[in-house]
Formats: sequence, C-alpha cells, structure tokens
Amino acid sequence: MQDSLQLFTEDDCRRLAEHPWLQGVELYAQLDSTNRRALECCEQTAAPHLVVAETQTAGRGRLGSRWWSELGGLMFSLTIDAAQYRLTRQRLPLMSLVTGWAVRQALIEVVPRERVRLKWPNDVYVDDRKICGVLLEASDARPLHVVVGVGLNIENDLSQAPEEIRRRATTLAEHSDPPPSTGEMLEMVLDQLRRCLEQLAAGQLRLAERWSSACMLHGRSIKVELPDGELAGTGEGIDQCGALQVRVGAELKSVVAGAVVEVDGRRLTPR
Ligand code: BTN
Repeated sequence: MQDSLQLFTEDDCRRLAEHPWLQGVELYAQLDSTNRRALECCEQTAAPHLVVAETQTAGRGRLGSRWWSELGGLMFSLTIDAAQYRLTRQRLPLMSLVTGWAVRQALIEVVPRERVRLKWPNDVYVDDRKICGVLLEASDARPLHVVVGVGLNIENDLSQAPEEIRRRATTLAEHSDPPPSTGEMLEMVLDQLRRCLEQLAAGQLRLAERWSSACMLHGRSIKVELPDGELAGTGEGIDQCGALQVRVGAELKSVVAGAVVEVDGRRLTPR
C-alpha cells in the first residue's frame, strides 16, 4: 500500500487488507501492468492475490493492444488457483466469461440491467459502448494459476483518450450520478466474482443460459475474425463450453477463438 494514492482512501485500503476472500493485496499509485505483476505473484503468493493500480504505463489489452489506463478507471488483476474452482486448462476460457458476467452483475446495481450487455468473449458494454475489458493470462506456475485482469471505466476522462476510444468507450460516470467510488466498485466486482466462481465450482452458475440472455450480439448480424479466415452470420449466444454460437443459414457454428469485428454492418475495434 502506498501514501501517494489518489482514489483509494485509507478506509478502502483497510477493507481490502481485511477482505475475507483475498490472501494478499498490492495497491499501487502507478504500475506498468497489474497483469504483469500478478503473473509474477502466481509463483510467490497464495491465491487469490489482488494487484490494483490507479494508473498503468503499459496496460495490456486483448490481442496485443494497449489498455488506456489514466486516473479514474478501475484497473486490477487477480490471481486464481484454477483447481480451487474446478477449472482445467481446457475450461480456462470460461473464466473470461465468468468475469464479464460478474462485472455486469456489479454494474446492474447502478445502471438499468437492460442497458448493460456482454460482448463475446470478455467485454462489457453499456448502450453499445464498451465500459469494461477483461484480459485472462495463464501463468506457467504449477499448479495451474490464471490471472484475471479487469479494466473498468468509472470516472476517467475520455476526452483525454485517443479518438478511437472516445468514439467507442463509455464510463460509469456517464450513466450513474454520482458513480460508486473506485474502491466501492472494486469491492462490488470482487464480491460478484467470488460468488460466481463458487457457483461455477458447484456446477450451479448456469453460465451459458444467463450469459446468453445478456449477450449484445444475440440476433445481430456479426462478422468474426478467425485464426483462419472470417465468419459472417447471426449471433446466438454461447454454448456450455463458452464458444460463441453463430447461425449461418441452417447451420449453427461454434467459435472457440476469434474476435467479433463487425456488428450490424458497423466495424468494431478491440476497445
Ligand atoms: C481488453 O483488451 O479489452 C482487455 C483489457 C484489460 C485491461 C486490464 S487493466 C488491468 C489489467 N492489467 C493489464 O495490464 N490489463 C488488464
């Protein structure tokens, strides 16, 4: 914990330090990337271990992109011991979906639920603008550990962001006045994540059904970039393994890896 924090109060720090789920907490005013640091922690500390930074200088995004990490956003990474939640290497992609779902559950405490939707595999949107991204990175540590990185726009000033982000992103402050503080939002997300992981381990999460009901691609015309080409069709939610279901004529195709690059004819960017 550091003295120079601007967003997290002493009270926030104390509550995080005493959090019943977390085995360890690191809170930084600035870090290169909380995911990078959390991957290091997988080798050294018990999970779940939380790494939070008020700003990042090299925030990592999906598919090699950068996460714009200015003050006012919530940026954290959590180490998870996969076996604790019955996650095998094969089932790891579910972790992104579970995290997106957990973030949505936290957001709908302050934004009307019908406006908060999920974009496969791991983005959360409010009114067709991205509010949160999730980056999952598997560690080489044994036993298997995974790092879940979450970037959630709360009060960060998007007018300072690159043009592409200004056009496509939104912040919680635009939908909730006043928005919860960064510390409050972090606790809300952690509580939801813990509950969802426990339900997942107990086989009670009903992820495919619940996730699909909040899927922003459902019934929409989409294009997915695949490792070996492109697929165009209509989104139909996800299956039990977390694969995106795309209807192409009479056929239902499962996409395990890929990026949705177009929705209803509108080009999307990773952020
Ligand atoms: C995406 O591209 O949508 C995923 C973005 C994930 C960003 C978060 S911010 C906290 C954590 N640390 C990182 O370096 N990245 C993730």
